Amino acid sequence: MHDDPAKPARRLIIAIDGPAGAGKSTIASRLARKLGYVNLESGAMYRALALKAIEKDASFDDESALVAMAQDSRIELEPTIGGNRTLLDGRDVSARIRERDVTEAASRVSVHPKVRAWMVSHQRAMGEGGGVVMEGRDIGTKVFPDADLKIFLDADPVVREQRRMEQQKIKGELAANVAADLRERDRRDRTRATSPLVAAADAVVIDSTAMSEDEVLARVEALAQAKLR
Ligand code: DC
Repeated sequence: MHDDPAKPARRLIIAIDGPAGAGKSTIASRLARKLGYVNLESGAMYRALALKAIEKDASFDDESALVAMAQDSRIELEPTIGGNRTLLDGRDVSARIRERDVTEAASRVSVHPKVRAWMVSHQRAMGEGGGVVMEGRDIGTKVFPDADLKIFLDADPVVREQRRMEQQKIKGELAANVAADLRERDRRDRTRATSPLVAAADAVVIDSTAMSEDEVLARVEALAQAKLR
């Protein structure tokens, strides 16, 4: 919010990091819509590369092959009114990259330092003009260490698993698999050597365990408005 019409509003870089199932995507997209910003989901880029590795039958452990593949690819995040579209070499892969095999592969390709370096440089280029809400795991620590506002959104693991299940309308035996997958990805994200999932020292940590989505959004929006003042 600003009062001087001659002075254009600052366009912030807002980083939202946190583990899977904490509600980052929903909050990031709702916040971006409220502020008239672009919502960039960095995880979709790792997912797109993972899909390419699956399709090319490349090993998720072969760092050089994965980097070469990334350099040879066009991975685009296209914001639309209904949400982000992810394009891989011009093809809309938005739905495909949410499937279980890609989710697992994304977690594995994202451990490699050189893959991360490629992603980070592209993510910086996409967000440097400001007016962005970028979400992921290392946005506040690596991609934009000078972001105007950093949020680390967390929640109790059991609650995160439940939310994921509800989101994907999963029940029974499959639910147990999804919970186990989530725990394993969490472990990998938090323990990898390069850019592990951790809150930046200057991030505002929000534990959404006992909060509604609207409450989290109101809190984050208030923090953003305070930066704009
Ligand atoms: O947020 P997501 O679940 O779509 O992310 C997919 C994978 O990519 C996840 O296992 C962690 C990884 N990731 C990452 O390492 N760094 C990011 N900034 C975003 C995602």
